[in-house]
Amino acid sequence: MILVTGGAGFIGGNFVLDWLADPSAESIVNLDKLTYAGNLATLEPLKNDTRHVFIHGDIGDQELVKRLLAQYKPMAIVNFAAESHVDRSIHGPAEFVQTNIVGTFNLLECAREYWNSLEGNAKEAFRFHHVSTDEVYGSLSATDPAFTETKAFEPNSPYSASKAASDHLVRAWFHTYGFPVVTTNCSNNYGPYHFPEKLIPLVILNALNSKPLPIYGDGQQVRDWLYVGDHCSAIRQVLAKGKLGETYNIGGWNEKANIEVVNTICNILDELKSRADGVPYASQITYVKDRPGHDRRYAIDASKVERELGWRPAETFETGILKTVQWYLDNPAWIDGVVSGSYRDWLQKQYT
Ligand code: NAD
Ligand code: DAU
Repeated sequence: MILVTGGAGFIGGNFVLDWLADPSAESIVNLDKLTYAGNLATLEPLKNDTRHVFIHGDIGDQELVKRLLAQYKPMAIVNFAAESHVDRSIHGPAEFVQTNIVGTFNLLECAREYWNSLEGNAKEAFRFHHVSTDEVYGSLSATDPAFTETKAFEPNSPYSASKAASDHLVRAWFHTYGFPVVTTNCSNNYGPYHFPEKLIPLVILNALNSKPLPIYGDGQQVRDWLYVGDHCSAIRQVLAKGKLGETYNIGGWNEKANIEVVNTICNILDELKSRADGVPYASQITYVKDRPGHDRRYAIDASKVERELGWRPAETFETGILKTVQWYLDNPAWIDGVVSGSYRDWLQKQYT
């Protein structure tokens, strides 16, 4: 058994589905608070799979986490649970401090107590895998080298500051207590089941709904894009072979300016589902006020995980983005389920 936290979210949900696609894989206890970003519809394919146990709860709930560890005796914990959206962290940072810092602290303490109670092989094999972000490293200029694992942390948003704090806690639990951790710092994911507050799914849905495609500032900010299935395979590899106490950068070797990403999506939609009036979707692009403190460029140097653990992404941006747009066209029921009242309230707050 493994314990996954945040497994009803975008990456956690993909991870749970991918993991259990292997008939010989260990079972999963999936602990998720079901915030606005958690979605049980993502886990619908597992409704008859007894290897998946869903628990509705908070990683900050000490009693619950202790009970789950004692009951299910997991051989590993993979911690995805977090508040993950930079724009929301600017409007309301408190939840980010609570879940990303205090929640991770609680999980570490409960897990350490559980690990101390283990013996022999079970103790030797146990792993705590913390899933983090490249945003902890700060912002790069156009000519700076890509982030390596030794780059100093310079987080700039409430979100990235809270993730950086959680990474530091994880590191300290290894150095102080010998608690067996690995951390991965990953670039921007995209793919199926992505909540449409983030750039790629937002642009796909707005395009199809004849709404503006909002570009912050000049649209020249650069992100490194990683297909979510590749992120999941990297986590499996690090969990299986990663060296304790190490951090591994995970990236797609796909640096793109935001405007280029949005134009690519528009071109794919023009091919797959052109507008009834024949006008290109790119005509809906609208430049809007920039995000405060907007990081200019992220770039991941993922050569350590390739060299030491033999992992490389399978998708290029071209293959991954085509699959992603097609998935959104093929899954209107999942989309209808997420664009509820609270989602519309968010769009109203952020874009008007
Ligand atoms: P998400 O917002 O889609 O999902 C987060 C999940 O965590 C949701 O299901 C939510 O209900 C759950 N959750 C929130 N607070 C919780 C709590 N207190 N207790 C239990 N569950 C809680 O996020 P995501 O994009 O899937 O990101 C997953 C992890 O990966 C996060 O830690 C994020 O920082 C990290 N990450 C994300 C990206 C990305 O591009 N999306 C890139 C690098 C790292
Ligand atoms: O780098 C990894 C990070 O990637 C993760 O840690 C975060 O959890 C994840 O949300 C993501 O953060 P970003 O801020 O980079 O992702 P987002 O999709 O919000 O924005 C991507 C870029 O697009 C960013 O430069 C802001 C810009 N943008 C975003 C939105 C929502 C726009 O121009 N318009 C928009 O409407």
